[in-house]
Amino acid sequence: MNKKTLNENNLEKIQNAIFKNNLTIGHKIYYYPLVQSTMNVAKKLVEVACPHGSLIIAASQNGGRGRMSRTWVSPVGGLWFSIILTPSIPPSLFSKITLAAGISVCEVIQELYNIKPGLKWPNDVLLNNKKVCGILTESLVESNIIKHAILGIGINLNFYKEELPEELYLTGSTILSETGKYLEPEIFLHKLLIRLNEKYSLLESQRIFEIDRYKNFSITLGKQVTAIYHDKEIFGLAKDINGDGNLIIELENGENIEVCSGEVSIRVLGSYS
Ligand code: BTN
Repeated sequence: MNKKTLNENNLEKIQNAIFKNNLTIGHKIYYYPLVQSTMNVAKKLVEVACPHGSLIIAASQNGGRGRMSRTWVSPVGGLWFSIILTPSIPPSLFSKITLAAGISVCEVIQELYNIKPGLKWPNDVLLNNKKVCGILTESLVESNIIKHAILGIGINLNFYKEELPEELYLTGSTILSETGKYLEPEIFLHKLLIRLNEKYSLLESQRIFEIDRYKNFSITLGKQVTAIYHDKEIFGLAKDINGDGNLIIELENGENIEVCSGEVSIRVLGSYS
């Protein structure tokens, strides 16, 4: 079967629907068959005052970026996009945008494939314990005000895991490989945009972050984890995720350490690293 990918026609339909419903995220869509990284395109667009909620999507990327300066392999068949946000929330609430995006992706997978994904804190989406989606946020903060943020989401949708580099086979996969199902990418994207809009507006207007929904998908809670925290490796029990979305790790000496998503990379012991 041919890979199902997005094209300008089906994107226009989504955009019209988003526009009609007066939703912010996705009201303007920029589509490219190939870019280095949608994050870079978004950064350039933001410099020329591209409006809040603009979505930049590419059929493939040849220089996709992940967290911790990692490469993000982005062949045709995946969903690769970035959203420009000029949030009216304080920087302290900012990490919740990324966490809320993780919940949104999980909810869409659950709805469309009838399978429950997991969230490895802060925001790796896993199916059968393998990463199928990653989320990256980059922001410009000046005088404690978020000038803009770029939310990048990469979903390994309609291609097989063999297209990923071999070293990722143990830890990463694709939704197609894990479920055996191709899905129209525009359906996935449309549903995701609706959820992102809902969660973003909850956060922005009422400062509400759905921590219980987040915890419901968490595969990190209750597990032993290691984390690099302030340049030191710490080891302990992932005890809780607090209302700010920060992870509470209980060390062996009983001390609790609160780690914020921007600060650490964690490893869940006995799970994928
Ligand atoms: C991670 O490391 O888990 C985050 C991966 C984020 C990948 C997406 S794909 C769309 C956007 N463009 C990029 O270059 N990266 C993000």
